[in-house]
Amino acid sequence: MSGPIKAVDWIDEKLTLLDQTLIPLEEKYHSYQEVNLIIEAIKKLVVRGAPAIGVAGAYAVVTAIDQAKRENLNSDQLEDLIDAIGDARPTAVNLSWAVERVRKFLPSGRSAVLEEAHQIAREDRLSGDLMGAIGSDWLIEKLGKKPLTLLTHCNTGSLATTSIGTALGVIRTMQSRQALKEVFVDETRPLLQGSRLTAWELMKSNISYRILPDSAATMAIMNGKIDAALIGADRIALNGDSANKIGSLAVALACHEAGIPFLVVAPESTVDRNLQDGSSIHIEIRSDDEINYFKGIQVAPIGSQTFNPAFDLTPAKYISAVITEKRAYEIAKA
Ligand code: MRU
Repeated sequence: MSGPIKAVDWIDEKLTLLDQTLIPLEEKYHSYQEVNLIIEAIKKLVVRGAPAIGVAGAYAVVTAIDQAKRENLNSDQLEDLIDAIGDARPTAVNLSWAVERVRKFLPSGRSAVLEEAHQIAREDRLSGDLMGAIGSDWLIEKLGKKPLTLLTHCNTGSLATTSIGTALGVIRTMQSRQALKEVFVDETRPLLQGSRLTAWELMKSNISYRILPDSAATMAIMNGKIDAALIGADRIALNGDSANKIGSLAVALACHEAGIPFLVVAPESTVDRNLQDGSSIHIEIRSDDEINYFKGIQVAPIGSQTFNPAFDLTPAKYISAVITEKRAYEIAKA
């Protein structure tokens, strides 16, 4: 496959995923015809990033319909398959949101479900450009039109979406407006979405970057090396509390202390309209092995217990603005 990065696609009536566990060493695509294999791929982070797993989940419902037909499953069994897709990862609301959105089209048949999944992908693609424009307008208005050094955490680019990205989309737009000096990319332990994925995307786009260990981010911010930090989100409550990759909270606190902007950039589909605040957001806890082993090599005493949350929650008071495809919302001031 060539051209722009496509983390999630629908090719020859099959969900196709770029295997993000292999990047930057290999660019390999897998196609899926079995729901359990898609669920495994979502859990293993073959596809990851809230908007991308939303789109993948929507297409997976079409796969479920095809599988149900092939295996003569009844409608309850089909609904069970669809439930399991929506539950594959708990924190990113985009997954259950997209699955429920396409599920409503089941009575109208497979082609209606597929069309709705395509529509979710189209909307996501469009939202990236809009967030890029709104976010970079916000930064330029607050900080002036000069080349800025921006810090980001995890991966929020084309690998995490079907667009130019959320936070990384704003960063790309800043580059195209000659308003970007350099990107500080948090490594993003333990699965290295920053150093493996964000750095790979920036390298492909000729955007100047440097990678730092997560533990160096607070020092970079406090020492005045960073003009603003931008992250994505997996779930945003109505009051602006935002769950995102573990380590985001430390960045937010440091930005608050240093008095520099901390932006959360995410599509409206990441806002959970059932939540007033973030206190009940389910934070996914991942396995001990992600900490005790690195690429299969033991890096801690055998059997060590760990604390391995995949996400943390940044209270709205530390967020300068939430940027969506519709608005720049300054919660702390509202
Ligand atoms: O565990 P991951 O890699 O799925 O976590 C992803 C993040 O935390 C992203 O920042 C978030 O989903 C936003 S992606 C535009």
